[in-house]
Amino acid sequence: MTERLDGTVALVTGASSGIGEAAARELAQRGAAVAIAARRTDRLDALAREIEQAGGSALTIEADVTDQEQVRRLVDETVDRLGRLDTVVNNAGVMLLGPIADAPTEEWDRMIALNLQGLLYVAHAALPHLLAAAENAPRNVADLVNISSVAGRVARKNSGVYNLTKHGVGAFGESLRQEVTGRHVRVSLVEPGAVDTELPDHIRAEIRDEMMGRLTGIEHLASEDIADAIAYIVTRPRHVAINELLIRPTEQEG
Ligand SMILES: NC(=O)c1ccc[n+]([C@@H]2O[C@H](COP(=O)([O-])OP(=O)(O)OC[C@H]3O[C@@H](n4cnc5c(N)ncnc54)[C@H](OP(=O)(O)O)[C@@H]3O)[C@@H](O)[C@H]2O)c1
Repeated sequence: MTERLDGTVALVTGASSGIGEAAARELAQRGAAVAIAARRTDRLDALAREIEQAGGSALTIEADVTDQEQVRRLVDETVDRLGRLDTVVNNAGVMLLGPIADAPTEEWDRMIALNLQGLLYVAHAALPHLLAAAENAPRNVADLVNISSVAGRVARKNSGVYNLTKHGVGAFGESLRQEVTGRHVRVSLVEPGAVDTELPDHIRAEIRDEMMGRLTGIEHLASEDIADAIAYIVTRPRHVAINELLIRPTEQEG
């Protein structure tokens, strides 16, 4: 069973914090050269230094993935500088919860622009390179890992537009999976429950206290738990595709 990713290249979006940061670290530890993308380059640079000090290889790229031109440049620069693209973790996302009535619709626009359009742009730009990598050594298989959520399976009051975006990620990914799996590009869906990250920090304070209350007192997942699942997915042998992983904290009921 192949557990290493030596000789391969991975691109992780939203790598400046949380799940993306942990995923980049984990893939680098397994031998992949990693391109790490987000808007906060100070955080990316610190992660790149850490990866390189541990003997890995990291390329920092500033990119707002809601901008298709920046996404094209992100993928082009990754391939130009690192030589190929075998693994994409399509992770950047935002969760702006709240009731639909009287919502500031700018929050909806931000979620749709990042969680859906940004994820689509990344998939579109990366796909030709993933298809090429799947035809080549060392692994003859490539991976697109889309990060959804429990919210991509279960709709909840005050989460309507976040639910919409994450359900969309699942539908899009399944369609794309059928399109490319015969060519050995595996499209996987990861659906985390509550993970201890910066994600809830962007919710309006009055909403956050009410919405996150149901998770108070439970032991959250760590970003490393999700990174471990991503690494499991992308290190399977060529004939094994992990299509979907739903991962909740043990104490999380719904
Ligand atoms: N935490 C959870 O409980 C949980 C549960 C289920 C699913 N998820 C999903 O996991 C993914 C990662 O979230 P997280 O929990 O790790 O949250 P996080 O710590 O807030 O990370 C979000 C990442 O997205 C990046 N980002 C935001 N806007 C961006 C933009 N326009 N362009 C490029 N990058 C952008 C952020 O970097 P910059 O701000 O530097 O650009 C950051 O690196 C999201 O898709 C989220 O929906 C999280």
